[in-house]
Amino acid sequence: MSAVMMPGKPVADAVFADLEPRVAALRAGGRNPGLGTILVGNESASAGYIRMKQDRAASLGFGGRHVHLDDDASQADLVAAIRDFNTDDEVDAVLIQHPIPPHLDYEAALTELDPDKDADGAHPMNMGRLALGMAGPLPCTPAGIEALLLHYEIPVAGRDVVVLGRGFTLGRPLSMLLSLKRPGGNAAVTVVHTGVPNWADYTRRADIVIAAAGVPGILRPEHITPGRVVVGGGVRYEGKKLLPDVDEACNEVAGWITPRVGGVGPTTIAMLFRNCVEAAERRARA
Ligand SMILES: NC(=O)c1ccc[n+]([C@@H]2O[C@H](COP(=O)([O-])OP(=O)(O)OC[C@H]3O[C@@H](n4cnc5c(N)ncnc54)[C@H](OP(=O)(O)O)[C@@H]3O)[C@@H](O)[C@H]2O)c1
Repeated sequence: MSAVMMPGKPVADAVFADLEPRVAALRAGGRNPGLGTILVGNESASAGYIRMKQDRAASLGFGGRHVHLDDDASQADLVAAIRDFNTDDEVDAVLIQHPIPPHLDYEAALTELDPDKDADGAHPMNMGRLALGMAGPLPCTPAGIEALLLHYEIPVAGRDVVVLGRGFTLGRPLSMLLSLKRPGGNAAVTVVHTGVPNWADYTRRADIVIAAAGVPGILRPEHITPGRVVVGGGVRYEGKKLLPDVDEACNEVAGWITPRVGGVGPTTIAMLFRNCVEAAERRARA
């Protein structure tokens, strides 16, 4: 048996199609959405991600600007760039590309960002809003996975969902999102991690397994029940080579699965732009 593939591109295309008239309405009202991006250093995967997002912003005709800080930038340089964006009226949402060089404190920098301009939904205020089920920018990768499951009409409400990984980018916010009482959520969510050595006992009974560990090949066919749903969110880069969490052999066991390349990634980018448009709409209303 071969699983049905759930590529991210059709999901992203649907998100961008939904955004088109909203962007047109904003422009008609005199406001073009603006995305600010900050890259620190020259790490090749991060530089590539930022370029991809800028290209998309340019193709959509968004405004905004990019700040590229040197590898040896100080915390004060990073904070200054963030504060500058906070007061820039042309910029509705700001992305600080992660990871940043290890001598810098990402969490401390993030708290300097205006939470309403948080393109990645990562600011502690927005994590708090998510935990409380309040409106606010959602973390992009979890929101992309929620959209993907909705798009492929995978039932989530009342289902047994296991998230492998409790990281702040993916596993933890995703577990909150999918357990919220909202369309696309309402699931019985279990989060497993290194503190749960028998995590496979949980993934094996799950209706939906979402890999969010960043450990190449960690999820193997024997960890899932045939016919169930598998979403691969975690990846690691070795140079330019992308190594997903989900072993390729899972394709032969799962009922539905994201492709190893072009699965969750395109939906993450679409959510970044959705957050940017929503931020512009909020500012237009204000
Ligand atoms: N596809 C995309 O667009 C996209 C976007 C963003 C992030 N990502 C990927 O998502 C992944 C997760 O990122 P993150 O920042 O949320 O997480 P993270 O901080 O890297 O944490 C990884 C999590 O996986 C767990 N884990 C690691 N090895 C494990 C093992 N052997 N057994 C059980 N659990 C294990 C860790 O457990 P402990 O907590 O116990 O250490 C931790 O909770 C990364 O690979 C990242 O590259 C993908």
